[in-house]
Amino acid sequence: QSQKRRLNVLKSVLNLHVCVEEPWCSFVHTDAEVSTRRKTFAEVQTERLEQAERTILIKCPPKINEKKLLQYLSSHGKINSHFFFENRGIHALIEFSEKNSIASLQDVIGIPSATEHHVVPFKSRLFIFTLKNPVGQAAAETPIHLSPQSHIPVKDLIQKLCGAESISSQMYTLLNEYQLTEENIKLRFLACSLVRDFARAYFPDSVVKPFGSSVNTFGKLGCDVDMFLDFHKTGKHTTKMKKGPFEMEYQMKRLPSERLATQKILSVIGDCLDNFGPGCVSVQKILNARCPLVKFSHQPTGFQCDLSVSNSIAIKSSELLYIYGCLDSRVRALVFSIRCWARIHGLTNSVPGAWITNFSLTMMIMFFLQKRSPPIIPTLDQLRELADKEDQHIIGGYDCSFVSDFSKINPTKNTETLDVLLCDFFEYFGNFDFRKNSINLRKGKEVNKPESSPLYIWNPFEQDLNISKNVNQPQLEKFVALARESAWILQKEDKTLRMVNKEPWGLAALLIPFGKSNPNKIKNRMKGIGSETIKSLLDSLKKLDS
Ligand code: GTP
Ligand code: MG
Repeated sequence: QSQKRRLNVLKSVLNLHVCVEEPWCSFVHTDAEVSTRRKTFAEVQTERLEQAERTILIKCPPKINEKKLLQYLSSHGKINSHFFFENRGIHALIEFSEKNSIASLQDVIGIPSATEHHVVPFKSRLFIFTLKNPVGQAAAETPIHLSPQSHIPVKDLIQKLCGAESISSQMYTLLNEYQLTEENIKLRFLACSLVRDFARAYFPDSVVKPFGSSVNTFGKLGCDVDMFLDFHKTGKHTTKMKKGPFEMEYQMKRLPSERLATQKILSVIGDCLDNFGPGCVSVQKILNARCPLVKFSHQPTGFQCDLSVSNSIAIKSSELLYIYGCLDSRVRALVFSIRCWARIHGLTNSVPGAWITNFSLTMMIMFFLQKRSPPIIPTLDQLRELADKEDQHIIGGYDCSFVSDFSKINPTKNTETLDVLLCDFFEYFGNFDFRKNSINLRKGKEVNKPESSPLYIWNPFEQDLNISKNVNQPQLEKFVALARESAWILQKEDKTLRMVNKEPWGLAALLIPFGKSNPNKIKNRMKGIGSETIKSLLDSLKKLDS
């Protein structure tokens, strides 16, 4: 039985590699090739965080000799990996194999002279590399490769999609273009690690970890970095002495509520980043929000960051989505396509409001995949049944247990194509009885709505909360109308005719804003469309990339 399960895991892994390059797909290798298993969420996080602590970022001159830079740095220790990227100038991310190489480098690095401005003497892992004799030293034999940190513009994507063979391959193309790259993931963990250096000035045991779409396998290039401060470093979290005639505990400042403590901690760390953090700009403390946070822009890495204090349930949500995203290659392809569709049609938005969030939309897609016959992903209750002792987590009275090792989950027998799944997703939600039913991922079933919010999606862990409480009736109606229209386009369209007429087809046709409300208008707009017209239509999408 277990041999069969392993073979199935290998099969699903192979399937995954055929379709898409997979930066999430790291493995634990053991002696026997067959027992290679996918790393758990916690293993990946620990490894990436440790890697980030051995990493530095260097701002380089425009013409840099890669070989000489590496040679110079290697005198401080072995370099494991490196890459260059453009972000207001060229930057190099260097990962040493030992952490103490950074200390050795920091020992010989100068502090800028305080001619114009006074510098705050905080020694970070961000450096500037300059050439003493730029003319003589620059001339690099080969230009350096710059690793892209943003996705291609929507109009280029649509053109690319038009050349694909099927809707399914269009969806994998979109996934390949939009998903986080290995380099971008490294940069995200580095941003967290640099913030941690500040947090440790106050709380030596603290860790800063990413959550949300940076780690749940559904992040696209350019999405924000959600990070949280965690004070319970694993392994170091001491349990009180149980034996013996006495007890010792720390003297600590006591505050009337956890919320107040969170606000005070975030406030000082926000000030610290604002005053002393190299490249931390536009620091905004949003301490009165339901979940207090500090927003800032981290210029050296180019990320917009949201820092909050440890929220174990949000981490569990990230892990749950990570598992779903890794189980079957169709899951991520479907999520990326639908998220892109929703953004283009204004169903989702980067600012908070009454619209559906990416998080809610992803949960709706997971629910749809649980409802297939046979199901493509298991329900949360089924994942809980597979949980072992180490997977048991009760947080704030809620049972958040589910299996972490997904080689224990039997791969699905469902073989539907993404062409079918995309069209059926729109049809399913275009006809969903939102007035009566709610979406419950724990059970994988529609359940009668417990209250009258237009869209009710049960929080998978805090079962008395609705994650889409913010969505109003007009936004839900817009979603339903667009879903119906999209299903209609996919079902009615004649792919060959559209290709002959050089019209966007399949997923590409769904990524161009539709006519206001009349489907005939859309048909007319598309009829006989030439490549010039497509070009101007696509130009109108430019603003969506900003
Ligand atoms: P992006 O839009 O790509 O940033 O997706 P995201 O999943 O990172 O969403 P966002 O940055 O808005 O939120 C980060 C994380 O916070 C999510 O992944 C969830 O774990 C959690 N979260 C966001 N919104 C909600 C909500 O309404 N309810 C709950 N329970 N958690 C939420
Ligand atoms: Mg996010």
